[in-house]
Amino acid sequence: MVSYKDLGLANSKELFAKAITGKYAVPAFNFNNMEQLQAIIAACVEKRSPVILQVSSGARKYANQTLLRYMAQGAVEYAKELGYAIPIVLHLDHGDTFELCKSCIEYGFSSVMIDGSHHPYDKNVEETAKVVAYAHKYDVTVEGELGVLAGIEDDVKAEHHTYTEPSQVEDFVKKTGVDSLAISIGTSHGANKFKPEQCTRNADGILVPPPLRFDILEEIEKRIPGFPIVLHGASSVPQDRVAVINKYGGALKDAIGIPEEQLRKAAASAVCKINIDSDGRLAMTAAVREVFATKPAEFDPRKYLGPARDSLKELYMHKVTDVLGSAGKA
Ligand code: G3H
Ligand code: 13P
Ligand code: ZN
Repeated sequence: MVSYKDLGLANSKELFAKAITGKYAVPAFNFNNMEQLQAIIAACVEKRSPVILQVSSGARKYANQTLLRYMAQGAVEYAKELGYAIPIVLHLDHGDTFELCKSCIEYGFSSVMIDGSHHPYDKNVEETAKVVAYAHKYDVTVEGELGVLAGIEDDVKAEHHTYTEPSQVEDFVKKTGVDSLAISIGTSHGANKFKPEQCTRNADGILVPPPLRFDILEEIEKRIPGFPIVLHGASSVPQDRVAVINKYGGALKDAIGIPEEQLRKAAASAVCKINIDSDGRLAMTAAVREVFATKPAEFDPRKYLGPARDSLKELYMHKVTDVLGSAGKA
């Protein structure tokens, strides 16, 4: 068993308390490899933002649990080397079993999500409470989820979303003892969050998706005032990156995300953690495709992963500065 404290990581408790009073959200960026990790840390150090490094169960299988433990420790040291020790959380994204959460804690995670949102309510409470009882022994923070987001993740799948039922949140938080709660108010995972027919067109002909359900969020905030809320599925699907992908041979159709002003509004509320994965995937893919198409003789991975890393760093700096408001809060 390795404690996250020995790796120099932080749990999310204090970060969330500050984010709620400061009216911003802490970024939770998913990573699977070294370039993504370098970009996240370099961007957050440069912008002095706290950060949550987020690992899905698929990412853990992909990267290897032992390597991840050293990568997280390396991230802490890398930040110091870059000149500023920002708070770094290592978080399990969408944990689906107690065993997975326990194993992550034993490998140095400082925070875990137990996603019981696909279970009936009582089973969700039971599973979540079990993880909380174990995690809190080690000062590890726990995120639960109520309501279902649409989208496909490797172990938790849903075709349609179900909004969080505000009348359940107080009971859920009390019975489980979770430290934060992911809710469903209209976001979803992936790069196709809305169908074009759900959207309207603005004066420039750009598709505008339906707004998030801020009425549900407000109702939730009334029931559990000051309690940390988490927003999954919060990629904005930047259209310039989508255009580059499609220009250089990609085939992304009807890729639509959450408008940034909606996320800024959410970040100023009790939403204090905003999850972004797909936008990073798009930025990397656009950069790699561009190199492959414009420099077909290139075969040194550094020559396409390097530009992908630069593009990611720029994306993350923009997110923390212009969308989440966490820049300068580390
Ligand atoms: O919400 C899920 C994240 O985007 C992780 O996706 O399960 O494909 O690693 P993944
Ligand atoms: P996106 O697919 O919108 O990036 O959401 C990521 C996420 O919620 C990870 O848990
Ligand atoms: Zn998610």
